[in-house]
Amino acid sequence: MLDTNALILLGGLVICLLLSHKQITALYKKIDTGYLKKYLSFSPSSSPAGSRKNSSYGAKLEPLPKPTPLMITPEQVKNYDDRPWRPFRWPYHQTMSIFKLDINHWLDMDKYYWHYIQEKERIWLKYGKENIDWLPGSEDACFELMETVVEHMTARYPLLFTVLEDKGSDGKIIKNELTKEVLDMTLPLKENPLIYVSKLAKEDFYIVKKNPEDGKHYLVAAAVPFPGGSFGIDHKIGKHLDVIHDDVPYYHEKLKKSMERWFERLAPENPVERASWYISWDHKLKVSNVYRIPKFEADTVADINSTDPKEFNVRVERQTLRRLPKSQAIIFTNHPVFYSIEEMKNEPLVPSLIKKIIYEGPKDIIKYKNFEVLRDHISTYLDSLIKRQIDKGIIKEDTPLKTLPTYPFAYWAKTDFDFVNGWLNPTVDKKKFDYSATAKDELVYEDD
Ligand code: HEM
Repeated sequence: MLDTNALILLGGLVICLLLSHKQITALYKKIDTGYLKKYLSFSPSSSPAGSRKNSSYGAKLEPLPKPTPLMITPEQVKNYDDRPWRPFRWPYHQTMSIFKLDINHWLDMDKYYWHYIQEKERIWLKYGKENIDWLPGSEDACFELMETVVEHMTARYPLLFTVLEDKGSDGKIIKNELTKEVLDMTLPLKENPLIYVSKLAKEDFYIVKKNPEDGKHYLVAAAVPFPGGSFGIDHKIGKHLDVIHDDVPYYHEKLKKSMERWFERLAPENPVERASWYISWDHKLKVSNVYRIPKFEADTVADINSTDPKEFNVRVERQTLRRLPKSQAIIFTNHPVFYSIEEMKNEPLVPSLIKKIIYEGPKDIIKYKNFEVLRDHISTYLDSLIKRQIDKGIIKEDTPLKTLPTYPFAYWAKTDFDFVNGWLNPTVDKKKFDYSATAKDELVYEDD
């Protein structure tokens, strides 16, 4: 007599013999096989390229919000500025602080695009899995992310990304007109999907999946060359969100429950965005030295003290969250955008808000963001900007200090922006605040 297991195995074999390969693939796509797939497809952790057709194109995506084409040319991107983030809140409480995302801004474009794509390549070659990695079981999500990024970039920026060849269910060959690179994404893929994603978009990507066994959300893959804190992705991958956010002030008391509830409900058609910020004096991308946790190195303090306060920046971590319909993975993007304090000096209350938050914000947030280490060095400068705003009549001595009405953006951000220059700051000579050249110098490390 055959036992139950043997019967199940025999049944499986008969089904496999009866179904063609195509039918099996179709069936496989209908059920959530994320955790089963690891047994069926390539193991990307050991072989980045994958040795055979590792996924398939062509399954119909749910109707998702589609971006509107933005007809900027590579030449115009050279002067193009992104939306001006000013995510300063007062009173400052730790909250989810998420906003509905206009899908046009899922993956933004600006004049630093080349800089970030080049840095991604350098970081991948030098640091490898410290910054870009994927676990078995994440293949479907990585593949779907690549498809979604390709769809977005070609639809939103038709003059920046050209489809050279569309082989239908076998994939596409794309030309990135900004870097001039031709990306052959036809099957079988020669690289892990995350490598293609990193050659298309300047954002960092985190891929999160729910484990049906414990109901928790885990980081299963990541392409994160520019982490906001001093961590390598090798310390976060495979961990669930509670562990990843363990050091985040008030996470357990104020964020955890609402985040869990929110993740359960997140629908593919309702993406969101949020932004957090730190203060930094450089544009170093892999590690923002100002933000070393738990301890900062001695030379960090020396660096801070020898830097002119006018050189200090607000590093905004601009983030988005969306769910992919097929794999059900949650995609979290993060992208650093630098604004010097000097370039925001004509915007009512901005210097006052920064000063207030770094001295009087919640104690644990001040510590987490290392404000204590740098605030005394920049406080005289901030005071001079506040006085300047009063003298110029930009604010009054008794103007109440509270979150800007245009939060999280600068007051001059508008939707009918200049198509050639994007959001060019009208309050200062923006050319003075183009940090491309400085960043290039800062990013060359001695051992490179
Ligand atoms: C609504 C969803 C989320 C909220 C409200 C949230 C909130 C936060 C907050 C408040 C911080 C501290 C820095 C800051 O002030 O922003 C943080 C850090 C971080 N978050 Fe999230 N987060 C969310 C989703 C995610 C997801 C999906 C990931 C993906 C893995 C993630 C990964 C991280 C990482 C890696 C850090 C840095 C932790 C460190 O300092 O070591 N977050 N998050």
